[in-house]
Amino acid sequence: MAEMSELKLEEFLRLNAPEDLSGLTTAIAKSSLMVWESIPFKSGLLSEVNPSGETQKAIDVYSNDVFVEALTGTGFAAEVASEEMAEPAEAKGSVSVAMDPLDGSSNVETNNPIGSIFGFYSKKLPTSGRDLVGALYVTYGGMMTLTFSFGKGVHRFVAVREGSAISFELLGVNLMLPAKPEVYGFGGKRKDWIPAVAQFWHTLEEKGLRNRYCGTFVGDYNQVLARGGIFSYPALVAKPGGKLRVLYESAPMAFINEQAGGYASDGRRNVLDIVPSVLAERSPLYIGSSSLVREIEAKITSDS
Ligand code: F6P
Ligand code: MN
Repeated sequence: MAEMSELKLEEFLRLNAPEDLSGLTTAIAKSSLMVWESIPFKSGLLSEVNPSGETQKAIDVYSNDVFVEALTGTGFAAEVASEEMAEPAEAKGSVSVAMDPLDGSSNVETNNPIGSIFGFYSKKLPTSGRDLVGALYVTYGGMMTLTFSFGKGVHRFVAVREGSAISFELLGVNLMLPAKPEVYGFGGKRKDWIPAVAQFWHTLEEKGLRNRYCGTFVGDYNQVLARGGIFSYPALVAKPGGKLRVLYESAPMAFINEQAGGYASDGRRNVLDIVPSVLAERSPLYIGSSSLVREIEAKITSDS
């Protein structure tokens, strides 16, 4: 793996983050480079399935193992819970980390963006998003970026190669959702969506928003943060709980989105207010520009 030098991220963290979140973020930055470099080599299917019943790929297992080892080794993680593991890995620190180590892994073969998501919780898992003290997501796309918040704005770093070394350079501080929403992306199939969502799709088109969907939550949310709009993996008629996991995916991204001036709902309430009773609990998710999320939330509530 390329050696990291002049990790400008480290300097930023030293000035702007508590020691524990700084240590965990640095471990994620280094590990995500290992994951990124291994993507072309580890895309063969394994016969195993993960605890949620989805087929694991070698890259899923590898990224899970890399992050678990790095995070438990920092001394700052109390436990590391992962979408790829039935039970958390225990450690000796005080921050509970919940992660989706490779979000959108079905996009590996097509080379669409993929990502990783991390939530830093102050209490033992499962717990509410109100106990998040920070959250971070990685994009492995055209650029490899780290976007994070520790409760004081959303900041972004990009991996930059300098000879054989890679450093993380500051790409933006205090990122905010633009005032005028431009894009939307909804997961699943239209025929399966609950009626309020199917109708709202037309409303979005009438408002002039463009449909942009890549099939990776991190990639789809990342463009909403840049352009304004809404991402949803909605409630389905046959699956009212939707698809995304509260602890590993929805709540960490809701935390970042709120810091960027947005709002995230499960259709009835703020996603951060959900108290999951099991680690892998799912919920519908509507996330992005506050006005649009409040609008679909009102439609869903008035339908039920
Ligand atoms: O983690 C689940 C996931 O891969 C998300 O990244 C993505 O938003 C969703 O599934 C896509 O699901 P679908 O293919 O049903 O639209
Ligand atoms: Mn995922």
